Amino acid sequence: MQTKESLKQEAQRILRANDRGGFTIPTAGLYPFQWLWDAGFTALGWMQFDERRAWEEFDRLFLGQWENGMLPHIVFHRPEPTYFPGPERWGVARTPPTSAITQPPVVATFVRWMLEQAQDQALAEAKARSLYPKILAYHRWFKRERDPANTGLITVLHPWETGADNSPAWDEALARVEVDPALPPYTRRDTAHVDPSQRPHQTEYDRFLTLLEVYKRAGFDQLGLLRECPFRVASLLIDCVLHRANRDLLWLSRRLGLGNEAEIEGWLKASQQGIESLWDEEAGLYFNRDLRTGEAIRVGVSASFLPLYAGTASPARAERLLRTLQDWAQQVRYLIPSTDPYSPRFEPQRYWRGPVWAVVNYLIALGFAEYGYPEMAERIRQDTLKLCEVTGFSEYFHPLTGQGLGGGAFSWTAAIYLAWGQAAGPVR
Ligand code: DGY
Repeated sequence: MQTKESLKQEAQRILRANDRGGFTIPTAGLYPFQWLWDAGFTALGWMQFDERRAWEEFDRLFLGQWENGMLPHIVFHRPEPTYFPGPERWGVARTPPTSAITQPPVVATFVRWMLEQAQDQALAEAKARSLYPKILAYHRWFKRERDPANTGLITVLHPWETGADNSPAWDEALARVEVDPALPPYTRRDTAHVDPSQRPHQTEYDRFLTLLEVYKRAGFDQLGLLRECPFRVASLLIDCVLHRANRDLLWLSRRLGLGNEAEIEGWLKASQQGIESLWDEEAGLYFNRDLRTGEAIRVGVSASFLPLYAGTASPARAERLLRTLQDWAQQVRYLIPSTDPYSPRFEPQRYWRGPVWAVVNYLIALGFAEYGYPEMAERIRQDTLKLCEVTGFSEYFHPLTGQGLGGGAFSWTAAIYLAWGQAAGPVR
């Protein structure tokens, strides 16, 4: 095992090696462009040793923002043949080309944390001011185009938007997507980089790609897709991350004297109720919801704990979540498995069906700390650091053996090590 200091050097080296001149790729080969939520965690990593470079990550990310405010999940800054589906398949006529879906909207939260941590306050404030209207436009897009009826829950149109692509939570909803018989042929590239047993199944990929054709046929018209898209779910990853991001946007508004407070408070009121409507008393967990059937998706996933991070849970529900996670901990060596380890759908090495993800751990540990459970928060932090120390900066980890899985030399895992290795994290 390497020392903490040499690991820190190694984590910095990974970010530098993955730097493509202002934006950081998650890992070479498998993910050679800039991804939305990766960019947030990665910026926090850069912040620990190069503040100017950290802010640049967001400048580059917002080059991909659409005129309607949408922030796409991938910005294809330059051509790279090692990934599929690339810009040609998405067919978005923009410069730089982008995907046409979004991802957990972490940016406002990271801007707040970075502003709070910055040594160079003048730079941080200038950057926060310039980013603020762009983030506001993005959050308005969510409300206008993905929750026009003000239900307090965002409609998600693709498993990729949730970040947890092949979570068992999406199994039924995805199975209902009929594979397009005219689906243009394609070759997966992910399984050329990573052992297929650690990646989504082919049946899922056919549906992931079918959904792209649905969007293209709809001319990316969101309100039409809200009615017609064959995949429509409410995702705890999106709703909880957005709720916290709106809290942080409100904080930025006040701190920078920028107004819009009543508007953001209105969103928070709705999403508070929306998220809490996902609670399941019997299971002691929050569940995602299938918006085509209106039914709860009764499979526990790591995102089921995110209302702690959002801050919407009551103290009584937080206590139940603690007990549920303590129970999960009996089944695994490392927290937090991405799927309930008691579930028959738990697959400890397959992407979002079981493995531990450092970034999700960071958010949930923060939630436990804020609800007054420092021991659980510290347990999650120590498990995460140990996984990096024992097996390196992998994309995700086996919750029973600690084996590193997926892509190697992974930016957001290195970033979490840097951010979390220094201190217990932004707890307030
Ligand atoms: C992938 O290609 O695996 C990504 O998660 C989609 O963004």
